[in-house]
Amino acid sequence: MNSQEVMDSYDKHVLHTYGRQPIVVDHGHGVKVYDLDGNEYLDFFAGIAVNNVGQTNDKVVEAIKEQAEKVIHCSNIYYNEPCAKLANTLAEVSDFSKVFFSNSGAEANEAAIKLARKYTGKGEIITALKSFHGRTMLTVTATGQEQFSKPFKPLPPGFKHVPYNDIKAMEDAISDDTCAIMLEVLQGEGGINVADKKYMKDVEKLCHDNDILLIVDEVQTGIGRCGTLFAYENFDIKPDIISLAKGLGGGVPIGATLATEEVSKGFVPGDHGSTFGGNPLAAAAANATLSVIKDENLLDNCKEMGKYLKEQLNTLKDKYDFVSDVRGLGLLVGVELTMEGGDVVDKMREKGVLINCTAGNVLRLAPALIIEKEDIDTMVEKLDQVFAEL
Ligand SMILES: Cc1ncc(COP(=O)(O)O)c(C=O)c1O
Repeated sequence: MNSQEVMDSYDKHVLHTYGRQPIVVDHGHGVKVYDLDGNEYLDFFAGIAVNNVGQTNDKVVEAIKEQAEKVIHCSNIYYNEPCAKLANTLAEVSDFSKVFFSNSGAEANEAAIKLARKYTGKGEIITALKSFHGRTMLTVTATGQEQFSKPFKPLPPGFKHVPYNDIKAMEDAISDDTCAIMLEVLQGEGGINVADKKYMKDVEKLCHDNDILLIVDEVQTGIGRCGTLFAYENFDIKPDIISLAKGLGGGVPIGATLATEEVSKGFVPGDHGSTFGGNPLAAAAANATLSVIKDENLLDNCKEMGKYLKEQLNTLKDKYDFVSDVRGLGLLVGVELTMEGGDVVDKMREKGVLINCTAGNVLRLAPALIIEKEDIDTMVEKLDQVFAEL
């Protein structure tokens, strides 16, 4: 098929749920991807913060191949070794001793919500405005952006939304039926909004004082993206439950809900399940991904390159009035504009760089954690050219 035939097939037969860029991705390696016509792109979006160890990372590919030759899937009625190894590693590197495996971020959040309700026996979850927690009915309702839920009413009950970084609003929203507060420490889809450290500490205290669980949605921020393995580590807090997905499998779909030993007691056999959750192929890919992050010191690179990226972007902020803010953590960085950002994304693509725009006017940069200075220089040089043409 040529590019046009691929796009025509999507048009004809794939539900129109995405605004797609006109590129047919054919292959990639590291921070480069190539389309079907042979054009090369420098990838500063990494499949929405998924390819944290780069496209087709050699060790991840090798692990997938090796596992595929042994067993691809077996049901959760049996045990498998890659999944046991992954559970061991997650327990070792986090504050949580128990995990439930699933296939996506929304699913990881669904499990978190169900576990919180089952453990506490209460129903209400408080989340933040501008948050994003997924596309299932429960997670779309948890999401604090009406445009994602309004068309799908009736919505499941039990969710309240309050302004982000506003501790008084959070305190006022708590009721006798509140079972959990669920937050991102950096709102990715909502516009790269970073929580204040004091706010997160105060939320943790509110939870503690009111017997409420703290759930941190780390689907976008986790697995090294913000310079620590989990972004909550930057805030000196200890959540009861976190959800992971995107970066965990090196590109292979996987979700994980991590819970403390105590809270994990909420689930008993039969309470929750997922046919593909804990799939050995996905677990093998995740084991390789976590090894690469550790062995190649990608957390250090993420911190260093994130700092450099922000410095370079700030030079553009000084140069162009319409750049109103540069913010983020590690390699999840937003460039806020005083205008819509869609055109900038298109023009960057035409120059061979893939970026994204979220919340209408915030350019989102989320390259692989293996990114190097010269890639950042190339991206910033192209962005400078695009800005100069606006
Ligand atoms: C913070 C957060 N939570 C949940 C999700 C949903 O993840 P998925 O698309 O894998 O269901 C996303 C996706 O962007 C996200 O950013």
